[in-house]
Amino acid sequence: EKRGGPVVDTKQLVGDDLKDLKHNIMNLLGSGHPMLDTVSKYYFQADGKHIRPLIILLIAQATSLAPKKVHVSVKDSYEEIDTPISELSSFPIPTLGSIGDSKATISNGVYAPKYNDADQTFILPSQRRLGEIVEMIHTASLLHDDVIDMADKRRNLLSANESFGNKMAVLGGDFLLARASIALARLRNHEVTELISTVIANLVEGEFMQLRNGQVENGRQRKNGNGRMTTFEYYMEKTYMKTASLISKSCRSSAVLGGASDEVCDIAYTYGKNIGMAFQLVDDMLDFTVSSDEFGKPAGADLKLGLATAPVLFAWEEYPELGKLIKRNFDQEGDVETAWDLVLKSRGLAQTRMLAQSHCQKAIAAVNQLPDSLAKVALIQLTEKVLDRKK
Ligand code: FPP
Ligand code: MG
Ligand code: MG
Repeated sequence: EKRGGPVVDTKQLVGDDLKDLKHNIMNLLGSGHPMLDTVSKYYFQADGKHIRPLIILLIAQATSLAPKKVHVSVKDSYEEIDTPISELSSFPIPTLGSIGDSKATISNGVYAPKYNDADQTFILPSQRRLGEIVEMIHTASLLHDDVIDMADKRRNLLSANESFGNKMAVLGGDFLLARASIALARLRNHEVTELISTVIANLVEGEFMQLRNGQVENGRQRKNGNGRMTTFEYYMEKTYMKTASLISKSCRSSAVLGGASDEVCDIAYTYGKNIGMAFQLVDDMLDFTVSSDEFGKPAGADLKLGLATAPVLFAWEEYPELGKLIKRNFDQEGDVETAWDLVLKSRGLAQTRMLAQSHCQKAIAAVNQLPDSLAKVALIQLTEKVLDRKK
């Protein structure tokens, strides 16, 4: 429970591991072209929340004492490769264990896991690297997203598109994806490569679903029994694609790298999917409730972009007149203001929060099946933070 403060200090648990994140990512980046170097590293200057790597590391710990796949040893799946790096890349990219990856220690040729003395859970170097890869993919998607959304602000900085122009912002994102792909290939785990590649496809699919606004053509309110996707289902599917896919599949990947059994991998996936859905639902709520300064990015942006998110879709049930505004993407004079007022008057924001809460409960139920550990408690606490966050 929240009262009485946190039971587990997450910073103490994985804070040191997260501290190296930025440094390690910088080592995976770097281009001989100074401008590309600047653009691709730009969003890492400001401190992001690093929520994805944090979840990946906690899942690594929380699954480390859970049942393993039969025939798979606990040993890290990572192997060194003999192709000279110079043939693979225009810039030296460190392998796990090389200088610059302080946490990847080698003993007797094996990459050593890092133990948490308090409960003997551990994190493998490959799982730490997964966190870095996922943060790079996430950041690439933000570079592209800010171009698509014409955002002028991100993490309280001028957006990359605003600072360097659309062309460089797009190419900077592409470069991040490429370097993340190299690091992913070097994990030498086919299942994880497939999962994370699927995430990249899903991000684009989610963005396309949002762009195309397909639900509006169907023009349906919730609860239709005739087999076609309702507006709300379309929104939830889009939300999975653009946000929850990344978190759920990286949680599964973290468990896979640890050699977890299929059942444990499914638990990790279910946790990630539900906390990911909750995270985006709260994001869509905050768009209505916080100022741009608090948010660090443009607030009140969704209606202006023509997007009907959960708060509006719930409000539509109370105020049917919202339907025609949603259908025309709030593109007529005064639409944005009218919709805004109706949403604030409605129960839409409260219902959105309740839906997010129900996803958090599912996430908790999943992770509760794992053996007890400090990381498990931290993962449960994190669901509360997601619900109560202000940025
Ligand atoms: C933020 O959403 C954006 C995403 C979660 C995904 C964006 C995905 C793409 C642009 C597809 C390209 C993908 C890659 C991997 C290059 P938002 O606009 O609702 O949130 P915001 O308020 O943070 O801008
Ligand atoms: Mg955006
Ligand atoms: Mg967007």
